[in-house]
Amino acid sequence: MEKLEKLYEGKAKVLYKTDDSDKLIAYFKDSATAFDALKKATIEGKGVLNNKIASFFFELLNREGIPTHFIKQISDREMLVYRVEIIPVEVVVRNIAAGSIVKRLGIKEKTEFKPPLIEFYLKNDELHDPIICKEHVLAMKLASEDEIERMKELALKVNEILGRFLKEQGILLVDFKLEFGRRPDGSIVVADEISPDTCRLWDEKTGERLDKDRFRFDLGDLIEGYMKVLKKIEKGE
Ligand code: TMP
Ligand code: ASP
Repeated sequence: MEKLEKLYEGKAKVLYKTDDSDKLIAYFKDSATAFDALKKATIEGKGVLNNKIASFFFELLNREGIPTHFIKQISDREMLVYRVEIIPVEVVVRNIAAGSIVKRLGIKEKTEFKPPLIEFYLKNDELHDPIICKEHVLAMKLASEDEIERMKELALKVNEILGRFLKEQGILLVDFKLEFGRRPDGSIVVADEISPDTCRLWDEKTGERLDKDRFRFDLGDLIEGYMKVLKKIEKGE
């Protein structure tokens, strides 16, 4: 597999073309951003940890029959993925109230959502990723009715699989964000990354935050939290 020119650079990753037009290489950077990149830092080693953790989660999901863009981890900072057309909708699943929902709706932190809550956000930094509903997704022609249903179905399945696995390792899956992509045959797959950058992960016993909230709210060393996640999930395999 030959790595060719850069296709796209985001806040946390770079995508490179390969000699196979159907496959890309995702390279995980050490940059951390929060609050629409108002807060920025380079955190040495973050990219390696996120690549390892995301690869682990994607492997678990692929084994469980969830379609994802992930093919394999190819180096410390890189994974090989299928090329997809990203649907510009961030799908957030919440099991426990934290973060923006607490601020926006005044719901008490730690309130449990049963069944889990699913929300859509428009993936648009300039507009600060506003929350939207299904009708907006349809009106803006971001996805079809069937695609919306499929994203919801897959998001709930991912929640079940990751939530159960993490619970066995003593970690609570509080909430997370997914992005979906379309394959050339029109099917929908889980894309982007699933990592402590895109999930809230709390130590079940101590309540310690093991995710990017450490960076957002200066709760402690980010690498230490992400290392704990990696160690716990690797033990669970
Ligand atoms: P929120 O509480 O800030 O809305 O975040 C909900 C979940 O989504 C949390 O696990 C963090 C994740 N998330 C992202 O991955 N990217 C983002 O840009 C935002 C705002 C949240
Ligand atoms: N993803 C960031 C956050 O979770 C937002 C950003 O990158 O600007 O706060």
